[in-house]
Amino acid sequence: MSPRRILVTSALPYANGHIHIGHLVEYLQTDIWVRFQKLRGHRCVYVCADDTHGTAVMISAEKEGISEEDLIARMHEAHVRDFSGFQIEFDNYGSTHSQENRQLCAEVWAALRRAGLVVEKEVTQLYDPEKKTFLADRYVKGTCPFCKLPNQYGDSCDNGHTYSPTDLIDPVSTLSGARPELRSWPHLFVRIEKLHDFLQQWTQQGGHLQPEVANYLAGHFLGEPLRDWDISRPAPYFGFEIPDSPGNYWYVWFDAPIGYMASTLQWCKRVGEDFDRWWRDDGTEIHHFIGKDITYFHCLFWPAMLKTAGFNLPTKIHIHGFLTVDGQKMSKSKGTFVRASTYLEYLDPAYLRYYYASKLPPRVDDIDLNLDEFVAKVNADLVGNVVNLASRTARFAHTTGLSPRYPEDGGLFERAARDGEAIAEAYEKCDYNRAIRLILEASDRANQFIEQAAPWNLKKDRAKHDQLRDVCTVGLNLFRQVAIYLAPVLPRMAEQTGQLLNQPICRWDESKTPLVGKPVNRFQHMITRVRAEQVQAMIQASREPEEAERPAAAQAWDDGDEPLRAEPLAPTISFDEFVKVDLRVARVIAAEDVPEARKLLKLTLSLGGSSRRTVLAGIKGVYRPEQLVGRLVICAANLAPRKMKFGTSEGMILASGSGDEEIYLLYPDKGAKPGQRVH
Ligand code: MSP
Repeated sequence: MSPRRILVTSALPYANGHIHIGHLVEYLQTDIWVRFQKLRGHRCVYVCADDTHGTAVMISAEKEGISEEDLIARMHEAHVRDFSGFQIEFDNYGSTHSQENRQLCAEVWAALRRAGLVVEKEVTQLYDPEKKTFLADRYVKGTCPFCKLPNQYGDSCDNGHTYSPTDLIDPVSTLSGARPELRSWPHLFVRIEKLHDFLQQWTQQGGHLQPEVANYLAGHFLGEPLRDWDISRPAPYFGFEIPDSPGNYWYVWFDAPIGYMASTLQWCKRVGEDFDRWWRDDGTEIHHFIGKDITYFHCLFWPAMLKTAGFNLPTKIHIHGFLTVDGQKMSKSKGTFVRASTYLEYLDPAYLRYYYASKLPPRVDDIDLNLDEFVAKVNADLVGNVVNLASRTARFAHTTGLSPRYPEDGGLFERAARDGEAIAEAYEKCDYNRAIRLILEASDRANQFIEQAAPWNLKKDRAKHDQLRDVCTVGLNLFRQVAIYLAPVLPRMAEQTGQLLNQPICRWDESKTPLVGKPVNRFQHMITRVRAEQVQAMIQASREPEEAERPAAAQAWDDGDEPLRAEPLAPTISFDEFVKVDLRVARVIAAEDVPEARKLLKLTLSLGGSSRRTVLAGIKGVYRPEQLVGRLVICAANLAPRKMKFGTSEGMILASGSGDEEIYLLYPDKGAKPGQRVH
């Protein structure tokens, strides 16, 4: 088969938020597909960018008192760091706020104008007279006109009523607190209905979309005339001003998908490629990976824009479902809204790459991260099955090397080589769940072979040296096949396998020929077991108080003086007296109930390294042991040990409150490290 030319994109993440484990479903799904295509020997280029424009970025920048440019530059850096931490490798990672994007937007815009698709219409909207800006629905709050629930957003209320923001009772702008007015402004619209026949055909034929997506579009949009698309926003707006309509800006969803092309153009300039070969040439396949929430923009507007401007249409749009954690929407208060950077502080990225791959179907179904299953799967499949296969043979093979000829193995290598096609087909169709199942079956069969051949027994008998070498040669070759098949998912393990066997893994077809006559290097740890406590610690670190518990920015502080009255300040002490108390950051590494005691929990604190303290803390009334494991606390570390009825306490942890039901542990800010002194 001659190599294909494939351009791949993931949706451009918004620049006003950090990458989280929900996003990672998509970027990992895409990265695996790209790595698979590259391994198969195809020419495959993966581009992405930050989606930087729009009201949300403007507001965040204003809140922080910095320019939009500074905000998006900082986010760009954070996104790139997060992606690289998860071994997601882009050929280009750009920004929609780029010269290339402005130029391409102008080109597409001119084509829409030429085709007579742009019309102007007045739009009446709520306007904030203080901030001098029109207000999108989510920036207006008021009382629901149906159920009279106060403090509801401009489009729908918590009881599920939907309405227009102009229907809200007593509306307020969330930007300034001002009462909004109704105002009109001319907007530019794209008459997408003129492309109805084309979209009908493109969405329903040619296999560009998953069948359930094609049906959804037919059922929800294509059965009636398509509504004009409002693509302009009046100033102030962070974006590109429309060249032939001063004071108006392209709506973020106009320039965002063009960002796919702009990022490709940047890459082309950098590596000396011809842009038209990638976007105006039938020989190139274009694959977009997106989540189900942005189906509408990608499957209707985007093909319409490309068609009108004479660019390649997508070969395929791969749409995935949403992530749930333990069966529920990700939640900040439950700690399941985990940022990519937080995950990386606690866990190996290989775990999540593997877990998501093992769950991802080719369909739009949501995928669930079940935390118990995550631990069980990583330990049983990855460590217990796959890595175990390498570790139990490589240990011996380091001395024997690989046999000069591939030994008899009962057809195991041949069988796994043949399975390679079914596995490849599954990857190609984004059926990673099936690919992983087939790979694990091969790994299972190999482990059974090792179990029976028992190299650890052969090792004891010098006369059986050749036999040992043969067994290791089979075991390591079967492992290498598995490592090749898993290389798109676990690139680091593939690299380590290359180092172990003195032969880097570069091509999928290397799974068809056994390696022989090579020395074997010393086995280095590949992937270690994951502990449930690490996962719990990550969840704890991701916990944020409920919105309702956080004071609103505008709210006046109104703290009573009861605590001070109940316990007046102690007499003044000197600085020297203060520093006598050695306060340290400590991590709770174990916590257990003291069943006989009414108030006590027994905590094991780590001050870093091997320094430990056992502390009996009277906090049982409020905290459960499992809430504390992994958390950082502050500990008075040089208190003389104190013998108590239930054991000796070697310090205290800091908390406020009067005790019993009122205890508030003090946590150091994120980033603090165990052992650091608190001044
Ligand atoms: N900026 C737009 C995309 C523009 S593409 C021209 C956007 N950004 S996003 O940051 O909200 O999302 C980026 C991608 O991540 C989207 O495809 C979205 O569906 C996906 N996901 C965001 N949260 C997700 C989950 N909780 N679960 C799975 N995918 C999720 O949309």
